Amino acid sequence: MIKLQNISKQYITGSVKFDALLEINLEIKERDFCAVVGPSGSGKSTLMNIIGCLDIPTGGEYYLDNKPVSSLSADELADIRNRKIGFVFQAFNLLPYATAEENIEVPLLFAGHSRKKRLERVKYLLEKVGLQDKALNKPTEMSGGEMQRVAIARALANDPPLILADEPTGNLDSKTGESIVRLFHELSAEGRTLLVITHDPNIASQMPRIIHMQDGRIVNSHAHAA
Ligand SMILES: Nc1ncnc2c1ncn2[C@@H]1O[C@H](COP(=O)(O)OP(=O)(O)OP(=O)(O)O)[C@@H](O)[C@H]1O
Ligand SMILES: [Mg+2]
Repeated sequence: MIKLQNISKQYITGSVKFDALLEINLEIKERDFCAVVGPSGSGKSTLMNIIGCLDIPTGGEYYLDNKPVSSLSADELADIRNRKIGFVFQAFNLLPYATAEENIEVPLLFAGHSRKKRLERVKYLLEKVGLQDKALNKPTEMSGGEMQRVAIARALANDPPLILADEPTGNLDSKTGESIVRLFHELSAEGRTLLVITHDPNIASQMPRIIHMQDGRIVNSHAHAA
């Protein structure tokens, strides 16, 4: 599904060059469930943004479903981000003045579904994440765990095969974080591919594969019995 070949990312700030990623070679197969761990600044978010087609590498080639991503047009990339990939972030990134159901509806609007189809899908997703009672609540009227579940429902709106999560439990207490991790395990059992950045060794150890990053490199990428 995902193949990174000698990927690098160099940032230039003023006259200072900085290698955020170096010689990244990585394969992620369909249905893989991976944690990405490593110190702050090691390149985890940079790597995830490239995998999510939110950012482009400065070197190497990224193949998504065997297609070189560098050959895709802006429209094709937007379509991939909308249909193929679901994003979940530490800060939830919900629209602050929109209700839970309106937030979940956004990717369905972009995908061009009818109002009837959108409402059916939103209802299904709210139930899936256990928030059927919070449909009309705005982010300020929900707990952190509830906001993150709305964000996960939104990520699932167009039924993407790939879920990318950057510190999804970073703003949550450990018990609430556990419930989010359980939801990820369900998504994995459904056959989705998941890549989850986490600082929490306890959460990482529950995932079947752990990718360790350090100074812009993958220093270890192993599967273990979960
Ligand atoms: N736009 C940018 N311009 C310059 N340097 C950047 C930029 N974005 C990231 N970096 C640098 O690249 C390195 C990797 O950043 P990245 O956000 O990928 O780290 P991370 O592993 O996700 O860290 P954290 O755990 O703190 O989120 C950092 O040293 C950061 O300062
Ligand atoms: Mg980060």
